[in-house]
Amino acid sequence: RIGNKDLRLGEGDTPGDRVKVAGRIHRLRPQKHATFITLIDGYGHLQCVLQAGDLTKTYDAMTFAQGTSLWLYGEMCKVPEGQSAPDGRELHVEYYEVIGASPSEEDAITNRVSSQQNQWDPAMLDQRHLVLRGDNASALMKLRAAVEWAFVKTYKEMNITKVSPPALVQTQVEGGATLFSVPYYDESAYLTQSSQLYLETVLPSLGDVYCIEKSFRAEHSLTRRHLSEYTHVEAELDFIDFTDLLDHIEEVTCRVIDNVLSDPESAAHVKELNPDFQKPVRPFMRMKYAEAIDWLNAQDPPILNEEGKPHVFGDDIAEAAERKMTDIINKPIFLTHFPVEIKAFYMKKDPSDLRVTESVDVLMPGVGEIVGGSMRMEGYEELLAAYEKQGIPAKDYYWYTDQRKYGTSPHGGYGLGLERFLAWMANQHTVRTACLYPRYMGRCKP
Ligand code: 4AD
Ligand code: MG
Repeated sequence: RIGNKDLRLGEGDTPGDRVKVAGRIHRLRPQKHATFITLIDGYGHLQCVLQAGDLTKTYDAMTFAQGTSLWLYGEMCKVPEGQSAPDGRELHVEYYEVIGASPSEEDAITNRVSSQQNQWDPAMLDQRHLVLRGDNASALMKLRAAVEWAFVKTYKEMNITKVSPPALVQTQVEGGATLFSVPYYDESAYLTQSSQLYLETVLPSLGDVYCIEKSFRAEHSLTRRHLSEYTHVEAELDFIDFTDLLDHIEEVTCRVIDNVLSDPESAAHVKELNPDFQKPVRPFMRMKYAEAIDWLNAQDPPILNEEGKPHVFGDDIAEAAERKMTDIINKPIFLTHFPVEIKAFYMKKDPSDLRVTESVDVLMPGVGEIVGGSMRMEGYEELLAAYEKQGIPAKDYYWYTDQRKYGTSPHGGYGLGLERFLAWMANQHTVRTACLYPRYMGRCKP
């Protein structure tokens, strides 16, 4: 028994049981002899049948609309042959009590966005609190919870310790251009872009570590995959080499998927949202940045850079080109060894080719980059030189630099955007629908 209710919808109960349930009207189908209600309570759906006589007798029944919350009492029955209902059962209502009536415009909103379509329309995002009541949005939010849990479970299985680094910081990780500044008493601070530097500091005491925290980026572009606030799954691993890092990312990705799919409820959400979803085959394709440049130029017609010219070594592979590449190849790609110039200050150079870093982006079909990672610079002097080159004030980073002074190690890690992972897994057009309340340039409500 849960609270005052006899069951949460979707839970076991036997036909013939007399039950008391609470929920909201999700769909209302008045017919001549009976009214059919699909009731939701966040756990499942239940078909409830009110005989016409019962309903018309009371004034209350006139207030029935999508959204109306109510108590229902009655007998649980098997659905008659030839009819269908969730779980093959329905409640024959004998008594009901309206808790909160709802004006009927809620129908208009949740029905318009009952599919993924339109959910990213700004007007619909203003109504996000109602849109979230829709089947598609709620399946995605349930899946999101399952994916987050699968990461926690996976890291636990791999004996990696969870930590909780601060969100208010005074250092940048991924470039000064996307920092949000906030007043902080008599000083100023930033909202963190990544917890990576903090993760690195605890390797000596905790071994391999991870965190699932919010990261913030003042992105000035409106794309399908950029948010100003997103959930960042980051891990840092000690005493590894670059191949170990790639193998680990592959392992975590596959274990997370297995952990999600091994739960019947989560597997059902995946099936509902993305019927074609298939777990990627290991090993993932590995391609060096330099090979990717050649590959882009070799397409017919060639896939061009942002200036509309063929790619040359040193170019960023922009979102559009990356998306085309992943769509054509249509499986996960480890894109590795990016040039030093286009990557972050902390990345280790490849000893066999000092023009490039031991870095990786994981690209997924339909989304592009979902993971960014690298090996980290190990040398003290080398790191000081990297700060200098990028105009980073070394004194603010003393605690990070000290990792190289007090017993450095070969280590590396990565960050994965949870919303991008979900957009891939649930085949979403944009990461915005993978957030409860998305934040991006121009939107900070509701
Ligand atoms: O590639 P990024 O910027 O790498 C880092 O932040 C590293 N410090 C992580 C690390 O090594 N610990 O970001 C990592 C991932 C991206 O691949 C992407 O999935 C996601 O974070 N991401 C965003 N997701 C949504 N909106 C944005 N604006 C994002 N920026 C990055
Ligand atoms: Mg990146």
